[in-house]
Amino acid sequence: MTKNYFPEGFLWGGAIAANQAEGAWDIEGKGLSVADVARFKPDVSVKDYQQQWHVDEQSIAAAIAEKGTANYAKRRGIDFYNRYEEDIALFKEMGFNVLRVSIAWTRIFPNGDEDQPNEAGLDYYRALFTELRDNGIEPLVTLSHYEMPLHLVTHYQGWVSREVVDFFAKFCRVVFEEYKSLVTYWLTFNEIDSVFRHPFTTVGVVEERYPDKASAEAAIYQALHHQFVASALATKYCRKSNPQVQIGAMVTKLMTYPENCHPENVALAEKANRENHLYSDVQVWGAYPQWILNEWKEKGIEIQMENWDLATIKLYTVDFLSFSYYMSLVVSKDADQREKVSGNIATGVKNPYLPMTEWGWQVDPIGLRTSLISLYDRYRLPLFVVENGIGAIDTPDAHGEINDQYRIDYFKAHFEQINLALKEGVDLMGYTSWGCIDIVSASTSQMSKRYGFIYVDADDYGQGTYNRKKKKSFAWYQKVIASNGADLD
Ligand code: BG6
Repeated sequence: MTKNYFPEGFLWGGAIAANQAEGAWDIEGKGLSVADVARFKPDVSVKDYQQQWHVDEQSIAAAIAEKGTANYAKRRGIDFYNRYEEDIALFKEMGFNVLRVSIAWTRIFPNGDEDQPNEAGLDYYRALFTELRDNGIEPLVTLSHYEMPLHLVTHYQGWVSREVVDFFAKFCRVVFEEYKSLVTYWLTFNEIDSVFRHPFTTVGVVEERYPDKASAEAAIYQALHHQFVASALATKYCRKSNPQVQIGAMVTKLMTYPENCHPENVALAEKANRENHLYSDVQVWGAYPQWILNEWKEKGIEIQMENWDLATIKLYTVDFLSFSYYMSLVVSKDADQREKVSGNIATGVKNPYLPMTEWGWQVDPIGLRTSLISLYDRYRLPLFVVENGIGAIDTPDAHGEINDQYRIDYFKAHFEQINLALKEGVDLMGYTSWGCIDIVSASTSQMSKRYGFIYVDADDYGQGTYNRKKKKSFAWYQKVIASNGADLD
C-alpha cells in the first residue's frame, strides 16, 4: 500500500459557480448575464456539444424577451441564493475547509458599465463569505465563470471591446476592497482557454457578427488578449488590496496522447499539449510564446495592444495555477478514419483503453497524475485542482437512497493518482470536486447530469421540491477528508 502523501493543511472541498447554482436571476438588482441566455434543449446530443453551446443574435433576442425561467435552467439554478446556509451546513458536515464559488458580476454591476456598484449584490456576497468563514470554510472565489453581463454583448462586442477591460478592472477593485478580510484565495477567469470552444459564454463573442471564420478567429484572439490583460490587472489590484491574499489562473487541463509511437502522432500530441499550455504560459510566465506570435503573423492577425499591455502581463503573474481535469484526449494523423469522442466540446479520437461516461467523457485517473507532474515540472508553482468529478444520472432507489458507488469509484481512482503525484513532489494546495452539490450543467443546462455528493430534488424542467439529500458518496468523502486522504475505502 502506498503511503499517504497528502500534506497537512491540504484544502479539501467542492466547487460551484454562481450561474449554475444561485438561481434568483432577476432579483435585488441583478442584471442579465450570458448564462441567462442558455436555453435548455431537451434533445441533448453528446456528439454535438457545439450545438449545445451555440448562441446567435436570434437566441439572445428571444432570451431577452422571455421573462420566465421555464426554458432557462441557469436562471433557476438550485436556489443556492436562498438556501446557502443549509448547503454550507452540509459542506461543513462533510468536513470541507474550502468552497469554490464565483461572484456573479451582474449582481455587482448589472450591466457591467455602471459607475456605482449595486449594494444589494455586495451585501449578498458579504453574507455568503461570512457564513463560510463562520463555518471554518475558506471561500475560493472565481471572478468570472461564464457569466459576464449580457449588456456588454448587446451594447459592446463582448471582450473584443477594450472598454470591457476597464469595466472588469473596476468590478475587481470593488470586490477586492469589499472582501479583502474575508477572501484569501481568488481565481481570475474560469477556463480562459475555452475561448475557442464556446466563445459566447467565455468572451461574449457572437460569431455571426463577423463576415467569415478568419475574422471571427481574429476577434476571439483580440478578446483573449483583453482577458489576459484583465487577469494581470486583477492580480495587481488584488495584491494592492491585501498582500496576504493569493490569486491564481484557472485553465482546463487537456492532456493529449498520441494514438501510437508514430513520430507524426507524437508531434501532433506535442502540438496539442503546447496549445493547451498557451493560457497558463501567459499567466504564469507573463509573455506570449513565440509560436503564437508566429501564427498570428502567418494568419495576418494583428492584435490591438495598448503600450503598457505586455508590461502589465509580464509584471503581474499569478501566485498559483488551478485547473479543471475531467478527461484526456487522443490525436492521430489518421483521425479521419477513427471513431471520435466529444466531451464538452473537446473532441478527440476514441481511446480504447478508457471507459466513457454517459456524456461521452473518457475517464482517465492516470492522466490526472501525469497532468499534475507535467504542470508542476513546467511551472514550479503551487497547483490547485479546482474541478474534477463525474456527471451521471443518479436514480433514487425504492427507499429514496442514492447508491452512487460509481462516483466513489471515480474519486477513489483519482485520489490514488493524486497521492502518487504528491509522492513525486508536486506542490498541491487543495482539491475541490466539481458540483459537490448537484447543479445545472454548464454545457447542456440539464439537472439530470449530476456531480454532487448531495442530491437536489429537481428535474430538467425545474419540477421538484429542491430538497437536499445526502448520497452514499457523502459519507465516503467525509471519511476521506477526515483522514486527509488516507482512507479511500
Ligand atoms: C467546466 C466548467 O468546463 O466543466 C463548469 O468550468 C462545468 O462550469 C463543468 O459545469 C462540467 O461541465 P458540464 O457541462 O457537465 O456542467
